[in-house]
Amino acid sequence: MKKPLIIANWKLNGNKYFVNIFLEKLCYKLNKNKIYNISIAPSLIHLNEAILKTKKSCIKICAQNIDINSFGAFTGDVSATMLKNIGVKYVLIGHSERRIYHKENNKDILKKFIEVKKNNLIPILCIGETLKEKKKKQTKKICLNQINLIINNLGIKAFKNSIIAYEPIWAIGKKIPIKIQKIQKIHNFIRSNIKLYDKKISKKIIIQYGGSVNHKNAEQILKQPDIDGILIGNNSLNFNNFIKIIKIIKNIKK
Ligand code: 13P
Repeated sequence: MKKPLIIANWKLNGNKYFVNIFLEKLCYKLNKNKIYNISIAPSLIHLNEAILKTKKSCIKICAQNIDINSFGAFTGDVSATMLKNIGVKYVLIGHSERRIYHKENNKDILKKFIEVKKNNLIPILCIGETLKEKKKKQTKKICLNQINLIINNLGIKAFKNSIIAYEPIWAIGKKIPIKIQKIQKIHNFIRSNIKLYDKKISKKIIIQYGGSVNHKNAEQILKQPDIDGILIGNNSLNFNNFIKIIKIIKNIKK
């Protein structure tokens, strides 16, 4: 059975005090419990602190971004090699907020994916459509293009030990009700497409959902057969709500 992967994407939030207190309390609550598959994505500046704080727990640390380069004269950037060196496990690639605010394009996303794999980190490829694309019924086409970027350039094997996060842009940060059956259908569509290339990878790959997930809808979302985890923004900043979500995992039997 796949353990649901719960990732807290803290985006541009938190400070030294918040990170320390939150992680101290979380480590205490989880107490090395192996049934949980939990990761925290703090801001870049707090990664090292988060790693040191969670060293003896089951919590793994995720970076929100990396540079396209491994090293060199690129002022202000951080490479996958550097993240690997401090003990990061996952890296978010192509989050819609980076595609939109930092104009990340397919070429950048592909390069970042390659950097992450080269350094034996686990990429979390974020995909999903805008509201306009959803209204035009282009959801499947958009998702397919975004996963095909990897398959066509690197081959299906690149998805071995990789994660896909379906995050429809219209659902991010909105606190809107989620039509869970529709989300399940998209997840199934993504998995079926991977299955066309490789049955084993399609079975094993974690396909997470992100966008307006909270402690009230998480259980229903995680119970869907093709939703293997959740990527939570806003709601993960509230310790009590995050703990409620984690406890839900015990009720998920797939
Ligand atoms: P929200 O949970 O705030 O909608 O954000 C989702 C997200 O972008 C996670 O990466």
